Amino acid sequence: MEDRYGHFISYLRVSVTDRCNERCRYCMPEEVQEWASKDETLSWDEMLRVLRVGASLGIRKVRVTGGEPLTRPGVLDFFDALGEMRARGELNDLGISTNATLLPNKPRDGKGATVAARLVAAGVRTANISLDTLDRETYHRVTGRDFLVRVLAGIDAAREAGFESIKLNCVLMRAINEDHLGELIDYAREKDLLLRFIELMPVTTTEMLDESNFFSAGLAKKRLEEKLGPLTPRPDYKTNGPASYYEIPGSGQLIGFIGAMTNFHFCESCNKLRLTSDGKLRPCLGSHHEFDLREVLRNGATDVEIAAFFRDVVARKPKEHEFRENYVPARRMVAIGG
Ligand code: 5AD
Ligand code: SF4
Repeated sequence: MEDRYGHFISYLRVSVTDRCNERCRYCMPEEVQEWASKDETLSWDEMLRVLRVGASLGIRKVRVTGGEPLTRPGVLDFFDALGEMRARGELNDLGISTNATLLPNKPRDGKGATVAARLVAAGVRTANISLDTLDRETYHRVTGRDFLVRVLAGIDAAREAGFESIKLNCVLMRAINEDHLGELIDYAREKDLLLRFIELMPVTTTEMLDESNFFSAGLAKKRLEEKLGPLTPRPDYKTNGPASYYEIPGSGQLIGFIGAMTNFHFCESCNKLRLTSDGKLRPCLGSHHEFDLREVLRNGATDVEIAAFFRDVVARKPKEHEFRENYVPARRMVAIGG
């Protein structure tokens, strides 16, 4: 599927739930409890049907997100079904975005030593893990939960499980974690993980999303260079996303920057669509447009009609996000899926 601006859409991020066991301040306000009801959320079968049609239209990569995807009952069976699609060649790549808190647990169905191992056995290839700091108090303050110890156990479980790629995502926040970046770099190197720094995006309605908390990728890079020496751009190094990678002198370690707010070329190579847990297809994270696929599904649409819906949404994909144009967030990140 190609949009009006020459983006080829091959990647679908699927949010399977708006619920989460953490309360990151940049993602959801502490007090919200207006979770979507079960009926509003797409069933596993509905999600699989959408994904099958998507795959027939050229979706090759699926990343399962949330909220925290591992909090939704039945999610491991869903991964099995996606893994089967991958084994049949309908998808090339299957990943998860997670806060890692549940990765070290024993899976409820008893298959496998840890949830992480169970995911790898299902055919999940990549894990993106959120980690903004290694300081326990700061972790608690940012995520609303004292879960750092669990998260680190989850990261170890992921490494043992043998994902082909594990990335750590750190959201940059002035005065909160700006002094913790060096420590995260050391940790990522020791654990052989790819660390990326992400600019805070106005995707939710919390007091956190204030100019005063914004810490740009450019400034983070400058600060790191004062300590580490000049970072060498590695434009040749590409993962399937908008990060720019740099090499640290001496160690050769790569780190990434996701400058959604300050990089004007950010959207040029976008290949994504998003499916929200309540069944909206969203052509861009940073634009309010979304299209109600749930309604279409539940009104008895055929696969051909679902495919036409997909193509129509792709045709409306904007050239770029609207975050720089006084974008006022309407939905919480948890509902959209990071
Ligand atoms: N700005 C930037 N990144 C965010 N994430 C969640 N909310 C925001 C925000 N406001 C990131 C999390 C996680 C991924 C799912 O999305 O850190 O890595
Ligand atoms: Fe949960 Fe991730 Fe949102 Fe944090 S950023 S509240 S871990 S969904």
